[in-house]
Amino acid sequence: MTKAIGVTEYGGPDKLQVLDLPGEDLEPGTVRIRVTAAAVNPTDTGLRAGQRSRSGHPEHEADVPGMDVAGVLTEIAADVTTDLVVGDHVMAIVVPSGQHGGYRADVVLPAESVDRVPNGASDIEAATLPMNGLTARVALDQLGLRSGQMLAVTGSAGAFGGYVVQLAKADGLVVVADAKQSDVELVRELGADVILPRGDDFADRVRAEYPDGVDGLADGALLSALALPAVKDGGAVATVRGYTGDGRRGLRVTPGLVRQHARDHAELDRLREQAESGVITLRVADTLPADQAPEAHRRLEAGGVRGRLVLVFD
Ligand SMILES: NC(=O)c1ccc[n+]([C@@H]2O[C@H](COP(=O)([O-])OP(=O)(O)OC[C@H]3O[C@@H](n4cnc5c(N)ncnc54)[C@H](OP(=O)(O)O)[C@@H]3O)[C@@H](O)[C@H]2O)c1
Repeated sequence: MTKAIGVTEYGGPDKLQVLDLPGEDLEPGTVRIRVTAAAVNPTDTGLRAGQRSRSGHPEHEADVPGMDVAGVLTEIAADVTTDLVVGDHVMAIVVPSGQHGGYRADVVLPAESVDRVPNGASDIEAATLPMNGLTARVALDQLGLRSGQMLAVTGSAGAFGGYVVQLAKADGLVVVADAKQSDVELVRELGADVILPRGDDFADRVRAEYPDGVDGLADGALLSALALPAVKDGGAVATVRGYTGDGRRGLRVTPGLVRQHARDHAELDRLREQAESGVITLRVADTLPADQAPEAHRRLEAGGVRGRLVLVFD
């Protein structure tokens, strides 16, 4: 049995409870991690509230949220080929399903979803990287911009948006980011070339600076249709919650789904290297004992969290 944080019925943050769940089997192709840190992401709050459920209640005993973990490798299936050894500190992306999720003290994951913790990073810092780092990478790859082209980013101060800004700069793009006044310094430090006030009129602000529009847009703030006018005719837009655009002006609007990339080990490893070389910054807002997951969800849902909240398992 293993400690986990999950819900037996959907609802508000207080539905999250400490659970004692059966351990997971070490299947071929998998490794086992003793989780020390699990990042809290917006998708976790949706899962907790039942937004992913058709039936309105967990199918099994409980649903366990969590898509980002770090901890210690404790077991490797016999058929897995890896440089990692038992005892290594690792980070991983988790695709939650029922009782399988990141908020578990012990989790079994496909080996490709797991990589060593970046040199110099703690488990807590590393837990903030896999899911949003991969999502940012996917967004940029979908946009397919060339070095020197112009990318607008909404939600730049967020976990996804922040990684997009930093990875885009590493790709040689010119980045036009949104920020509210209190985030300007943060977004500048992330490397944005131009910072414009955030909000529903962000596209107007972009057009005021660049009358032809920008080449691409990554929409971390979910502005959806409101953001499209920022992009020039025939440009590209990467969205993160399924928005597919309005079919006008030849825009190529591609929704990303990180769970489809959860086994892109080469990309995860590239992110590790980019964290080690300082291209991307691992931002931790705060740590809370795992038992305080309700408080972490409340804080995330209240908005204004900068960096990721991370649950700590002992
Ligand atoms: N499809 C996928 O596979 C996938 C993967 C990862 C993430 N996502 C989604 O991507 C989105 C961003 O995730 P995240 O982890 O980056 O969230 P986050 O860290 O909370 O960042 C979102 C940022 O957007 C800002 N924001 C909110 N409303 C805004 C508005 N109207 N205009 C401008 N900025 C606004 C927030 O500021 P305040 O805090 O001040 O509100 C925050 O800085 C979430 O919806 C998440 O579920 C999807």
